[in-house]
Amino acid sequence: MPLVNLGFEHRFLPPRGDAPARPPLLLLHGTGGNESDLLPLGEALAPGAALLSPRGKVLENGMPRFFRRLAEGVFDVQDVEARAHELADFVLAAQDAYALGAKPIAVGFSNGANIAAAMLLLRPEVLGGAVLFRPMVPLEPARSPDLEGLGVFLGAARRDPIVPPFETERLKGMLERAGAKVELRWVNAGHGLTPADVENAKAWIG
Ligand code: MLT
Repeated sequence: MPLVNLGFEHRFLPPRGDAPARPPLLLLHGTGGNESDLLPLGEALAPGAALLSPRGKVLENGMPRFFRRLAEGVFDVQDVEARAHELADFVLAAQDAYALGAKPIAVGFSNGANIAAAMLLLRPEVLGGAVLFRPMVPLEPARSPDLEGLGVFLGAARRDPIVPPFETERLKGMLERAGAKVELRWVNAGHGLTPADVENAKAWIG
């Protein structure tokens, strides 16, 4: 399918096969990744689903990210906010351009999980749910969003050197207080994704 200019470099894979209609996945890579990285993950999580995968516009030493940070784990909150809105606008434009029937489920890893969490907190109406691998709290919104009934899967790791367990629990609490139905699954691993993460998230997506 020819790519449409929607303001982000991206890849779009239309839905395939006769698998039952699945919601599209919005794939959000980690620091240093790109729009091709998570396509295999998307296919593993929801075979045949449409896949929409943008590349983060911020460069940190040449590595694409979805927002600026001042140091590891210290975010430029104004930039997080602006970029979350920009990405949410991209999602709306893509939904129209590619005639996506349903709102996408965001699937983000690390920095991609953090921008997805920021979208949940600032623009929840653009997403149909979220799978967040190794997320942190990206910002404290001025008012709590309405996430009533929205499904969110959190994939955390006990030996993650970047995301301490209390950070995961803090995000879970914020999402639950806003009404989201959160499933938190821990794996015995570090920051990188493991096959157990993929299995857990695939079972959650169903
Ligand atoms: C972030 O900057 O979003 C987090 O520290 C995760 C990372 O990208 O390393």
